[in-house]
Amino acid sequence: MEPACLLTHPATGPYASGQAGQHDRYDAVRSTSTALAAPLSPEDCQVQSMPDCSPVKWHLAHTTWFFETFLLTHFHPPYTMFHPQYRMLFNSYYNAIGAKHPRPQRGLLSRPALSDVLQYRQHVDGAMHDLISRLGGNDPAFDALLELGLNHEQQHQELILTDVKHMLSCNPLKPAYIAPGSAALPPGTPAGWTRYSGGITRIGHDGRGFGFDNEGPAHEVLVAPFHLADRLVTQHEFLAFIRDGGYKRPELWLSAGWDRVCAEGWRAPLYWEGQRDDWRVFTLRGMQELELQAPRHTRQLFRSRRLRALGSRAPAARSRVGIRRPPTGRPGISRPRQHAGKRPPGPAPRPCPQRLGRPRAAIRRHVGMDVQRL
Ligand SMILES: [Fe+2]
Repeated sequence: MEPACLLTHPATGPYASGQAGQHDRYDAVRSTSTALAAPLSPEDCQVQSMPDCSPVKWHLAHTTWFFETFLLTHFHPPYTMFHPQYRMLFNSYYNAIGAKHPRPQRGLLSRPALSDVLQYRQHVDGAMHDLISRLGGNDPAFDALLELGLNHEQQHQELILTDVKHMLSCNPLKPAYIAPGSAALPPGTPAGWTRYSGGITRIGHDGRGFGFDNEGPAHEVLVAPFHLADRLVTQHEFLAFIRDGGYKRPELWLSAGWDRVCAEGWRAPLYWEGQRDDWRVFTLRGMQELELQAPRHTRQLFRSRRLRALGSRAPAARSRVGIRRPPTGRPGISRPRQHAGKRPPGPAPRPCPQRLGRPRAAIRRHVGMDVQRL
């Protein structure tokens, strides 16, 4: 018996239009997974670097298991399973499906070999195309599960990249996943704060297009007023946080976070290596220097730190260079804007250009061999 969340997932399409669209979309998603594994050796694909990560080989098999288990065996009675024990080996957390191999021990699965898993994918892909030709566009339950399986595989594509990065970072050779090169991003724009006035707002999936079952239903929530930076923090800004004692001051952390800082000896973000003024960061391109090109406003941050050392003269000096205080009252990236989520009349807030879509955009770039810094 399949989990209720899968079989009751509403068919809220349209998804890929018609059978031709479903065939194309299926091939596009599935081929992206194998393209992500292409730069890796079979040995790379075997490693599980920590219990929260999975081997690439397991990701490739598990996403295939999903289509075999929830679509082919359910909608395609003549289907012959590739290997009956794969149902247990590549089950992740669906208790209703039966026994599963323990997650922390996925790296122990030296068999099946990577070549067997790739054959498994081909076997399932052939049967899936037969099934799409028979049911695609004609059975809303099938269409919904097909779309769920494709979105599930895209989730695992993101996990492949994050797990590969951690796995390679554990190797003293610090191998690059893709060709070494500059990971520097274009110079950032100065960060600003956007003020949202709060109020009753609607969140959650509204039923149009695909949504996972834990993203709905849409409902109203009361949101307190808040400020949000209009872009992600840069490496230089994080370096300023470190230099300002960010990992030594408990008042900057929630209790659980500070406990973790102390217990694990954190002094920089994961993947940063070095000390004081000589930091490097591990990326999928291998070890990289920190981005040299700091946004103009970040350079003001460094200046603000120096100005704070001037004591009582600092506020006036800060005023001269145009540095203001953020909503927290601490010097930092701040250029307050008077916009709001449910806001009074006025110009629309500047959207955070990096807030949505970056992981999958990064995967698309990778297929063109252009991952910057995942
Ligand atoms: Fe999964």
